[in-house]
Amino acid sequence: MSVGFRAVQWNRDKLVYDGILLAAVALYIVGFAAIYWWLHPPKNLPDAIDIWIRAFGTCAFLMLTVILLIGPLARLNPRFLPLLYNRRHFGVLTFCVAALHVWFMLDWYMVQGNLPNLARELTTWPDYAKFIGFPFKVLGIAALLILFLMASTSHDFWLMFLSPRVWKGLHMALYVAYGLVVMHVALGIMQYERTWLIPLMLVGGFGSVAALHLVAGRRERKVDEGTVPTDEGWIAVAPPRAIPDKAALIVAAPGGERIAIFRDGEQIGAITNLCAHQNGPLGEGRIIDGCVTCPWHGYQYRLADGCAPPPFTEKLATYPLRIKNGVVEVNPRPLPPGTPAAIACPRDML
Ligand code: HEM
Ligand code: FES
Repeated sequence: MSVGFRAVQWNRDKLVYDGILLAAVALYIVGFAAIYWWLHPPKNLPDAIDIWIRAFGTCAFLMLTVILLIGPLARLNPRFLPLLYNRRHFGVLTFCVAALHVWFMLDWYMVQGNLPNLARELTTWPDYAKFIGFPFKVLGIAALLILFLMASTSHDFWLMFLSPRVWKGLHMALYVAYGLVVMHVALGIMQYERTWLIPLMLVGGFGSVAALHLVAGRRERKVDEGTVPTDEGWIAVAPPRAIPDKAALIVAAPGGERIAIFRDGEQIGAITNLCAHQNGPLGEGRIIDGCVTCPWHGYQYRLADGCAPPPFTEKLATYPLRIKNGVVEVNPRPLPPGTPAAIACPRDML
């Protein structure tokens, strides 16, 4: 373990993140309800409840879309990295918003004394063979169950208990949940509500998730194809100022391990991209409190020598660096873990 473990407890970054998240969700829901109320004043209580069903439903859909966009966005541009850190909180809040959508839906039936109708709708088996009239709520139920499973296993305890591979596999089910929600809306409200806003939300959300995954996937493949080293065995990385401050660029030799080249002000250091904890992608992390901080669970390592700060003992392989003709170069042959290898960059190159 390392002092980075603090990052999974409450810290300032996390509080700011959660504060902004909660404020954005509250603003969206209140804004949606106010505009909807103004455009279509409710005639009765069920109509008013329906506004909340829609406000929470669309909010949960947009949140799911953003969660799925965060990964590829952070890969494409390190400015999005802060969004990656507390993606788990984002996920748990999405479950809560979706659960409130369902709560208002149940309330809609209850205020009309109609709850048995819901059970009937879900158990009218011939409807499952229809396209128009399919019990779309069941797709929502399946999606909500997946979100519940993910929210309830989001704590580190479950990560350790289930093993990272199983945990990651489980959390890939988010894509299934997203697909179910798209179908829930496409077979549900889109069939009886003639407005271009719903197809726009579905096509925009699904399209942007698919497109960004394709672009990021292509970029990843390019990194893995690797950069051929020069005759002297060095790989050109980039001019110092092209390495984002407090973040990294990732390179690899063909067929070699990924290397994360971080810049912390004038200091540049290269370490393996694999975190000693559970192989998290360090190069997608940031420098926090002077240490490279893993984006998965916050383990930390000194940039200078790849060692976790005391009292922790993890050590990462480092790589030799140099600046030649204004370009940072890395030697892809790793040094023994914990070897000091960072260099200082002349200020006029930044
Ligand atoms: C992850 C879970 C869920 C998400 C993200 C979700 C999302 C949505 C969205 C985006 C809409 C369209 C709202 C609009 O455009 O106005 C919607 C409609 C609806 N959802 Fe869900 N839903 C979920 C689960 C459920 C469940 C479990 C049920 C019921 C058992 C349900 C019942 C409904 C109903 C009845 C509507 C139509 C509301 C209306 O006609 O005004 N949803 N949902
Ligand atoms: S802190 Fe867990 S993988 Fe890096």
